[in-house]
Amino acid sequence: MRSGFKLAPSILSADFSDLRSALDICNAGGAHWIHVDVMDNQFVPNLTIGPPVVSSLRPVTQKFIDVHMMVIDPEELVEPFAKAGADNITFHIEATNDPEGIIDLIRSCGSKVGVSIKPKTPLEDIFPILDKVDVVLVMSVEPGFGGQGYLPESNERIGRIRSYLEENCLDRVLIEVDGGIKLHNAKQVIDAGADVLVAGSEVFKSTRPIDTIKDFYQLSAQ
Ligand code: DX5
Ligand code: ZN
Repeated sequence: MRSGFKLAPSILSADFSDLRSALDICNAGGAHWIHVDVMDNQFVPNLTIGPPVVSSLRPVTQKFIDVHMMVIDPEELVEPFAKAGADNITFHIEATNDPEGIIDLIRSCGSKVGVSIKPKTPLEDIFPILDKVDVVLVMSVEPGFGGQGYLPESNERIGRIRSYLEENCLDRVLIEVDGGIKLHNAKQVIDAGADVLVAGSEVFKSTRPIDTIKDFYQLSAQ
């Protein structure tokens, strides 16, 4: 039986001049995770933050720090993010020829392991390694930017992954969905099989961010 869903606000949409306030919003709203979008301007056409920012966040939050690496050569950043205090480190299946090697490396650094898949990548590319990870991060937008629209075909992909996990007794693996998640579509994403929802602009571009987080959690009570 799956427990209630978790919200992972993405600080990519927060005010980078005041990340402490972003953490305060997550604390006051009761979010479970903090989603940290790492982009290298190689794997995606954008450049964001790295291990030093996680090192700054770690001592001032008890929240689960969920690092989403949208980078080439992800193996080079695993140890720095683990040392910085990441609780989960997610790599992209499209960024490596040796997913098992990266999984072993992340585990050896003491972090939880996530694998992410872009919208056009066949799910068959990740099925063989789902028994080795803790989180599967389903991209419901093309990675690179916050504020995009949810790709509706994502629901079917989430459902197929949910079925695969159930058929293979892998219910312990969390399905996290990332991109275009709003209050108006979150319920359908949860119903499709998501355990964790990433929300960036819906939370941090809101005039009432704390209440928005609370509104997300109200959805699962419905
Ligand atoms: C996109 C990132 C997402 C994004 C989510 O590449 O991985 O986490 O920041 O932002 P919204 O919720 O605004 O789509
Ligand atoms: Zn992300």
